[in-house]
Amino acid sequence: MILPGATLGVVGGGQLGRMFVIAAQRLGYRVVVLDPDPDSPAGRLAEVHLEADYVDRQALDELARLCAVVTIEFENVPAESLEHLARTCPVRPGAAAVAIAQDRIREKRFLVECGLACVPFSVVHDRGDLSCALARLGGSAVLKRARLGYDGKGQARVRSIAEALAAFESFGSEPCVLEKLCVLQTEISVVLARGVDGATVVYPAIENRHRRGILDTSLIPARAPQAVTCVAVDAAVRIAGALDYVGVLAVEFFVSNGKLLVNEIAPRPHNSGHVTLDACVTSQFEQQVRALCGLPLGDPALLCPAAMTNLLGDLWTRGVPRWEAILREPRAKLHLYGKRAARPGRKMGHFTCLGDTLDEARARALRVRQMWWSNGEGR
Ligand SMILES: Nc1ncnc2c1ncn2[C@@H]1O[C@H](COP(=O)(O)OP(=O)(O)O)[C@@H](O)[C@H]1O
Ligand SMILES: [Mg+2]
Repeated sequence: MILPGATLGVVGGGQLGRMFVIAAQRLGYRVVVLDPDPDSPAGRLAEVHLEADYVDRQALDELARLCAVVTIEFENVPAESLEHLARTCPVRPGAAAVAIAQDRIREKRFLVECGLACVPFSVVHDRGDLSCALARLGGSAVLKRARLGYDGKGQARVRSIAEALAAFESFGSEPCVLEKLCVLQTEISVVLARGVDGATVVYPAIENRHRRGILDTSLIPARAPQAVTCVAVDAAVRIAGALDYVGVLAVEFFVSNGKLLVNEIAPRPHNSGHVTLDACVTSQFEQQVRALCGLPLGDPALLCPAAMTNLLGDLWTRGVPRWEAILREPRAKLHLYGKRAARPGRKMGHFTCLGDTLDEARARALRVRQMWWSNGEGR
């Protein structure tokens, strides 16, 4: 076990890294963040901020020298950097698991090998692959770059071969997957933590609503039938086992035509899991610290139902939002990530409303939103 007082490393300094730093420091650890941005949300809180690129060998060596163990805050850290770190310092989750999650082609193949149902797809390497792929998938599809996409970026809905070709070219003709466009009844995610010894704890399934490809609202517990959430939990546990995973893992699912389909996996705490900060005995970030350090995992139990709403940079278009709308609500919890520039689509913070029932939590969240709307478009 790596006990409090030790120094932990995290590659990436965004909001997920920041919430990891807060959880780690609360438990008495020191944290080193590697992120090229001099003003990164996590770097500003950490004891040490190594301001360098993720492939900078000198910085990686310094990180490994300073830290007892290293984790990541986003999946696009080059796997070679994690392999390099792993020569001198434990890295959790390991490079092999991250390499699968950061490449949609490898991820899909892995899911199929696990025997899990996922969205029908075709791999696209060149223009020639597109037309039969589109025909096979029924003419309406989503083209997704295999690498480096997030928050709906690097993907486009296409209904004709001309649209598909235009999208493929706009993605630099890089390898892609073409997915069937599904009619979604709902989306759910399962967040779990798996320890060095394989012990696994799973949070109740979370129900998610996206707007324009970006998570908007998460509800815990998901309202999907138990038969569906149980299958989702089993699938997530199976994925974690197959990856020999150590850390926090999130699996996103679609429910379409009554069927549960795996969408994608995230080798890290997940935006939907932010509800666990206020609604569960142990937050996903504390679990990340515990799994990383080989500590016993915490209780994932739900304290009360909750609804989480993301605060995107769009809210700032007319100046700083009126936080009173949230702060006036005693069972709402405001989280701001300390990002200075508010750009449309950028995740600036979130708030979570608690309730004795899920309906009560949802109604509270809606009330807060309506207070903004009545003050003019989200202000
Ligand atoms: N094949 C699809 N059919 C229907 N909706 C989709 C499909 N793929 C993505 N979406 C919508 O876009 C969101 C973001 O897509 P996702 O593949 O999860 O990429 P990201 O890495 O940006 O989260 C999904 O949560 C879902 O709402
Ligand atoms: Mg997603």
